[in-house]
Amino acid sequence: MITPADANPYTLAHFVDDFRAIAVNNSDTHDVLKRLAPLAESLAASADLKARVRKDCDPTQGFAFQVLHEEPDHTLAVAVLSWLPGRGTPPHDHGTWGLVVGVEGDEVNEFWKRVDDGTKPGHAELQKLSEKVFAPGQTLLLTPNIIHSVRNDSDEISVSLHIYGKHVNFTNRSRFDPEQKTVTPWLVTQS
Ligand SMILES: [Fe+2]
Repeated sequence: MITPADANPYTLAHFVDDFRAIAVNNSDTHDVLKRLAPLAESLAASADLKARVRKDCDPTQGFAFQVLHEEPDHTLAVAVLSWLPGRGTPPHDHGTWGLVVGVEGDEVNEFWKRVDDGTKPGHAELQKLSEKVFAPGQTLLLTPNIIHSVRNDSDEISVSLHIYGKHVNFTNRSRFDPEQKTVTPWLVTQS
């Protein structure tokens, strides 16, 4: 039986070629996101991507951050994130643009707005704006100023494909605690 993934010959190597052609020397974030989205959706639905997913979640951080590609200067990052049931992230930014496509299972995204003026070191106040569930095949575009948090409310490991302008451990990005009103640097453990 031919499944949609079997019928999709697009591969990581094809995507990396296209990624370079679209994003290198292109400072227009909206143009990059618009042109990359259909290609990332094709990769997310491909047999090649599904064969690479390891789901080796780190029980401490609650998810796996599996890097499939980055350039020597850490730009053009392609990663698979697998999320343990009932786990997720604190609110965070990325320090770069990003694009997320669902691969397996639904993922809840909460979107936040920073409402303090950013002048007090370590202090941040967030206001929750909205919440949206992303299903497999659905795409979330992250402009560099977006703050979001992710949650897997299901009983199964969920998987999503993440494309970033730069590997997020090299962007000086931050995590937020809305209750304690703190902001701290955030690095992820790579699997
Ligand atoms: Fe994120």
